[in-house]
Amino acid sequence: MSAEILNGKSLAADMRLDIASQVADLKEKTGITPGLGVILVGVDPASTSYITAKERACEEAGMYSEDVRLPAETTENEILALVQKMNNDPKINGILVQLPLPKHISESAVINAIAPEKDVDGFTPVNVGRMMIGQTCFLPCTPHGIIQMLLKAGVETSGKNAVVVGRSNIVGKPVAQLLMRKAEGGNATVTVCHTGTKDLKSFTLQADILVVAAGRPNTVTGDMIKPGATVIDVGVNRIPDETRPRGYRLAGDVDFESAKERASLITPVPGGVGPMTITMLLYNTLESARRATEK
Ligand code: GUN
Repeated sequence: MSAEILNGKSLAADMRLDIASQVADLKEKTGITPGLGVILVGVDPASTSYITAKERACEEAGMYSEDVRLPAETTENEILALVQKMNNDPKINGILVQLPLPKHISESAVINAIAPEKDVDGFTPVNVGRMMIGQTCFLPCTPHGIIQMLLKAGVETSGKNAVVVGRSNIVGKPVAQLLMRKAEGGNATVTVCHTGTKDLKSFTLQADILVVAAGRPNTVTGDMIKPGATVIDVGVNRIPDETRPRGYRLAGDVDFESAKERASLITPVPGGVGPMTITMLLYNTLESARRATEK
């Protein structure tokens, strides 16, 4: 058996066309162009390429984007002041501070400084708390993108066993939360595995839906997958490869070759979850602009 590929790239392209037409509509009706403020500190190559992709997607959707790239030595106070400025800028509906930040800066202090109504990443305690208790909020982009992919692919989640590998604030914890919600794309029985889990395979073999966000290549191999499962690979690992023009290739956290022989549906890396993350960022920024017009 060879799994069907869950193509995030084409799904994201369809959703972005729809978002672009809604942006044009909003502009025509209200004169407002949704705006995203992006802050990148340092020169981490992966973060730089994510940010570039996010900005390009904004422009393609007809949104305004403001890009601030700062040196790694920037102080926490300078970043806090910039966040404050964006909080008060009516052209900016969404603020994105790319993580991770350099070690001398407190990520929680910076996240806490973002106005919850502009927190299109869904990282502030207010949005995290609202998500937890089912109130209106900005859902974090990667977990929301994963749920959208499952919905669009017609994957039943209700009553199924979902196993999440990884407990990060950005993916593992929130995707577990969304999968357990009593809502469309949720109502699953969710298990969260992490570096403290003993015998990971005994859990992953129970998964009808397996979400892997461990940050380590080959965390899951084919023998760890329940036959017929849906596998969502969130990992983006740069594997040195001199035969490639950039000197590396991208690999997920799942060994794709062995996994596709057991799964029925699997996301590739690249071209799986990544494009959906960016799409949900556009979705949240549009939503934020809409809410701003309603005030
Ligand atoms: N770093 C890795 N993923 C993300 C994300 O979705 N948002 C931000 N701000 N930083 C990240």
